[in-house]
Amino acid sequence: MTQVALMNQVVEWVNEAADQIREKLKSPIMVEEKSNRHDLVTNVDKETEAFLVEKIRTNYPDDHILGEEGLGDNLSDTKGRIWVIDPIDGTLNFVKQQENFCIMIGIFEDNVPILGFIYDVVKDEFAYGGAKTGVFLNSQSVNQVENVCLRDGLIGVNGAMFCHNTFNVRDIAIEAVGVRMLGCAGLDFLNVIRGKQNGYISNLAPWDFAAGVALSEPLGLKCSKFDGSPYDILGERQYFLVATQKTYEEIANY
Ligand code: IPD
Ligand code: CA
Ligand code: CA
Ligand code: CA
Repeated sequence: MTQVALMNQVVEWVNEAADQIREKLKSPIMVEEKSNRHDLVTNVDKETEAFLVEKIRTNYPDDHILGEEGLGDNLSDTKGRIWVIDPIDGTLNFVKQQENFCIMIGIFEDNVPILGFIYDVVKDEFAYGGAKTGVFLNSQSVNQVENVCLRDGLIGVNGAMFCHNTFNVRDIAIEAVGVRMLGCAGLDFLNVIRGKQNGYISNLAPWDFAAGVALSEPLGLKCSKFDGSPYDILGERQYFLVATQKTYEEIANY
């Protein structure tokens, strides 16, 4: 199967998952705490992950899966094809706002990101594609992102990092035109990909960045751990930076 055919198939699955989420939003959602009161999960997160995992296991039984809600595999290496799933990114927004959340899937082959999918379910904005297929937003091809410097654009920052001023992120935010805290890594990536934000600084698990890196790198954006070392899809939560080249280099000097 070509990457284009795979991309189109996954676009269909994500659209189906989104239809189910829209339907479920019409009834009360069941919310549970995971590790603490800031870390929630709902029946919709779990059911959406189950739906996507079932599609992958049925169609690609030899592939591997990493999923936030625990239905994936325990992986010890990055060989072969790995699907990285965040069934609902921005669960706090999903629970409190019923908007500003997205579905994300990143597909890696031998540790190289090949395809990414980020779907803002409520706004109906869908970015998908990768280095070989090209990147699309709602069926339109996305151009290379303009190489904007820090002081000419908006920077997205993880809320907790801003509160604790981790790595002096407030100084970085002051240098930018403005700072944004969306509470949804996928939507920050979408803004960076579309040139609406020149970077995003966060603390992310692999399912929070897998789709985003597959979409960002082909558009000329730079992604790594905050200290400049390569991101790790088998790792734990890691401080993370995606930005235009110029913004990335400026942030590295803070
Ligand atoms: C979270 C969101 C949030 C980011 C956190 C993520 P979740 O994902 O993307 O914006 O700051 O680091 O864990 O738990 O809502 O899927
Ligand atoms: Ca979560
Ligand atoms: Ca997430
Ligand atoms: Ca999630």
